[in-house]
Amino acid sequence: CGIVGYVGPGSSLDVLIGGLRRQEYRGYDSAGVAILDESGELGMRKRAGKLKTLTDDLDTTPLPDGRTGIGHTRWATHGGPTDVNAHPHLADGGRLALIHNGIIENFAELKAELLEAGETFLSETDTEVAALLVAREYREVRDLTEALRRVVDRLEGAFTLLAVHADQPGVVVGARRNSPLVIGLGEGENFLGSDVAAFVEHTRHAMEIGQDQIVTIRPDSVVVTDFEGAPVETREFEIAWDASAAEKGGWPSFMKKEISEEPEAIANTLRGRLVDGRTVIPELEPLEPVFADIDRVVVLACGTAYYAGMLGKYAIEAWARIPVDVELSHEFRYREPVLSERTLVVSVSQSGETMDTLMAVKYASAAGARTLSICNVQGATIPRESDAILYTHAGPEVAVASTKAFVAQATALYLLALKLGESRGLLTPESAEPLIDELTSLPEKLQSVIADSSERIAELAKWSADTQSVLFLGRNVGYPIALEGALKLKELAYIHAEGFAAGELKHGPIALIEPGQLVFVVVPSPRHTGSLHPKVVSNIQEIRARGARVIAIAELGDAAVVSSADEVIRIPLAGPMFEPLLAVAPLHVFGMELAAAKGLDVDQPRNLAKSVTVE
Ligand code: G6P
Repeated sequence: CGIVGYVGPGSSLDVLIGGLRRQEYRGYDSAGVAILDESGELGMRKRAGKLKTLTDDLDTTPLPDGRTGIGHTRWATHGGPTDVNAHPHLADGGRLALIHNGIIENFAELKAELLEAGETFLSETDTEVAALLVAREYREVRDLTEALRRVVDRLEGAFTLLAVHADQPGVVVGARRNSPLVIGLGEGENFLGSDVAAFVEHTRHAMEIGQDQIVTIRPDSVVVTDFEGAPVETREFEIAWDASAAEKGGWPSFMKKEISEEPEAIANTLRGRLVDGRTVIPELEPLEPVFADIDRVVVLACGTAYYAGMLGKYAIEAWARIPVDVELSHEFRYREPVLSERTLVVSVSQSGETMDTLMAVKYASAAGARTLSICNVQGATIPRESDAILYTHAGPEVAVASTKAFVAQATALYLLALKLGESRGLLTPESAEPLIDELTSLPEKLQSVIADSSERIAELAKWSADTQSVLFLGRNVGYPIALEGALKLKELAYIHAEGFAAGELKHGPIALIEPGQLVFVVVPSPRHTGSLHPKVVSNIQEIRARGARVIAIAELGDAAVVSSADEVIRIPLAGPMFEPLLAVAPLHVFGMELAAAKGLDVDQPRNLAKSVTVE
């Protein structure tokens, strides 16, 4: 869910709707706002459906504007996406409004208690419990901050709560436990948001808020305390990008724009971090003393970030000779993973908020492991919970399906692999040089891949619009790319798609091949010693013999592939570890174009949210 709060002299409605629009990637099942108008009345409007349904409604029947307000865009958990279940939820006779992100796990017992006490519920949400509890406390203490403070300890699970009360104009109170919340600091106005996108249009000056803390914003003050009411230390930061970076700027979709920014995302992630054959990454200093002693790396991530993590494994094992396990965060902590202070846990998360990954990192930290966060969003939670952070500088990613963040994450992991190789004396400036040359030449090569292949890929996607299933094959570093290609197609085009390690084909998946089956194959270069090229070409022949239609992604000049594939998409020559970062863009384009050909919303696919802040 996306949350926004505002106090100041401006129009709350404009700020709230703008903040929701910029955070719509966090959930788009329903949206709502509550505003305290000049006469001290609390107005509220909420509607199921995308934000547009709400704004259309507000255009037809306006809500009195005011200077204090909260807004919410929802990704449904408890209760379907209906008008009634949308946030805000009202209490205290309509004088208190509350919005929530997260899940209140003990809501059933709290609800029973409230029902017993004679309260009535309008919705099926867990949130309404919190609204009624805060109202009950408010009636006693007549102070919203204090009322919220009395309630938070009774809530189990993860939450960000924002509340306003008609008796307290010019005040928005927020509380957080594990779910995201950041503060935007303005001149005579202040903001709250799930992420900085909520208010970057108005201020680039922001403040982090820690776990189990409460914030009260007024136009001219921001007070942060812990749940006991004791003041806490806060950290301010400048947002590195401006609002225009998160605008569509003439592109038909955010996704198309973001794919075009993949080369830049790599370049920006590398910028200033490679000097004279060595990695210069001051952010890694807190961990540098332990780099030489680490005996294992565990990469934790979900979705696309997980596939970037798989690429990291190849690089770290090859260049730093440290064994690496890559794990889905939500599987990791529910067994008994073996960790020690010699384990480096690297989390990869674009948003830095994915709850599964956050919880896995906290678990690893408590078990004594060292933690490094690879993250794209400033002020996010996972970096705060980690010993060190390595930012990807991909810029804001708005489309729900991740593209430019993926290549930036892989780049950051490659930088880490170089750093670990240096720390362990395995890489010298001389031996690292060819790797660094490869890395720094990636943006230009990737640019040419996107420019040269996108049109053809769009045609292929159009022809494939009726396809029921697409398979993706790759080996070694091509394998995560096959998985990523398949995920994009599922996410965006709702087509059954699977990625396989090409060698595994003969052990089962080949039974799926029937005449006309579309298969993408990521083909490694034949130039490298020990290349798997001949084996992958044989795989292509095996499936074509059974009627598959093959689109190969292969290096320029690879002639062997021409006779075996139906279609060849070319990528420039690159070292073995770097080919996947070139091969992935055509697959991103394919997923996007196929979804577009089916008339689907590529930026906001059904059922998904960009930042999944529940477990
Ligand atoms: C969600 C998104 C995916 C994303 C994954 C991990 O499931 O829909 O596109 O890859 O979360 O997100 P993160 O922010 O942790 O990289």
